[in-house]
Amino acid sequence: MARIAVYITGSIAAYKAVEVVRALQHRGHDVRVIETKSAQQLVGAATLASLTKHPVMTDLWQPSRNGQVPHIELADWTQLAVVVPASADFIAKMANGLADDPASTTLLATAAPKMVFPAMNNHMLANPSTQRNLRQLVDDGVAVIEPAEGLLAEGYSGKGRLPEVPAVVEQIQEKAEQLLHHGELADTNFVITVGGTQEPLDPVRFIGNRSSGKMGVAIARAALSYGAKVTLIAGNVSVSLPKSVHCHLVRVQTTEEMARAVQNSFATADVLIMAAAVADFKPRHSASHKVKKQKGRQDYQFDLVPTEDILKMAGKMKKRQLVIGFAAETDDLLQNAQRKLEQKNADMIVANDVSKAGIGFASDDNQVTILQRDADPLNWPKQSKQAVANQLMALIINKIKEGW
Ligand code: PMT
Repeated sequence: MARIAVYITGSIAAYKAVEVVRALQHRGHDVRVIETKSAQQLVGAATLASLTKHPVMTDLWQPSRNGQVPHIELADWTQLAVVVPASADFIAKMANGLADDPASTTLLATAAPKMVFPAMNNHMLANPSTQRNLRQLVDDGVAVIEPAEGLLAEGYSGKGRLPEVPAVVEQIQEKAEQLLHHGELADTNFVITVGGTQEPLDPVRFIGNRSSGKMGVAIARAALSYGAKVTLIAGNVSVSLPKSVHCHLVRVQTTEEMARAVQNSFATADVLIMAAAVADFKPRHSASHKVKKQKGRQDYQFDLVPTEDILKMAGKMKKRQLVIGFAAETDDLLQNAQRKLEQKNADMIVANDVSKAGIGFASDDNQVTILQRDADPLNWPKQSKQAVANQLMALIINKIKEGW
């Protein structure tokens, strides 16, 4: 099991961190705690020390183990660092690389993956500086977990609550398992397409779609967490893209550019996942100047011609590659997805209904059915896109082990 460092900071939700620590221990993890000064006002270090059987890090100058510098020893010991709850102040320190107390200093010295559970007043959370700091953490590769909505300690409702303890523990457990499995895809090359393509009508207008890139980025993060090398071919997205030495980013706009990028990387790929929303048609001509309104003219017409079907192209080219497509449907989900599996010669289709609120385009959650050749469909429940991505990665790992 994993060595987890739990950082407790000055948020009223600090008391829940005690239960989180206990639950992680029950799952067999070795847990050590670091508390900020404000957190110590809310939960005593003695309680946490007796639960974890480790001294709580509250002082940079406390006696060291084996003659090592204590905060460096703790930073190097850590396999997963979890800040729960994370106050606005501590998030700001992390985002700016400050190290002016034992907790921020130890965390800055930690090379292990980091998870942050913000918990604060809703106005503090919504403040542009907090939002900027959280975006910075995401860009730095920190897993930031959305706070929940509900009754706050202030007595009114809003977004900013720490999610319930079982949900917090589940997320930490999932990350810990990924870490322990890290390396399972070490020699595997993934090509993953994300976001939406845009087909220009003129220099300022295009035909696009509502893809945010959330689904594809979650898949890329899952692959990276297992140690895979990822070529991420990204169209238009509204989320941060992973930054990792193992992630080669290729930005594209049109279907043609995406097709070329897939073609260039396909020969060395082991797995292709087409999560992008790709235009099926593009304007026959794209004007070189902005199309102007014309006096007396009531309509503007343009011809559309089909784009290249990238997944179908990959289905034809594949040799040893595992080729996975998505199907975004508004009706007859399974029949249409099955047809795509066959017509595009894919090995797997991830079918999602994009007509329902709360799943599909731009949402944080998705509900998918997995269609494979020679296997019954797998109906997965509605869950976060990251959970879908993790489950998909576990399925891919099994297929790789079986030698598909
Ligand atoms: O990005 P999000 O906001 O998180 O939304 C996620 C999503 C809804 C975009 C994603 O889950 C999804 O369904 N992606 C596929 C969207 C799509 O283009 O579906 P389709 O049924 O039109 O196409 C079927 C498959 O063929 C897809 O894998 C697609 O990438 C591929 N395709 C389609 C057209 C084309 N010209 N070339 C292709 O390769």
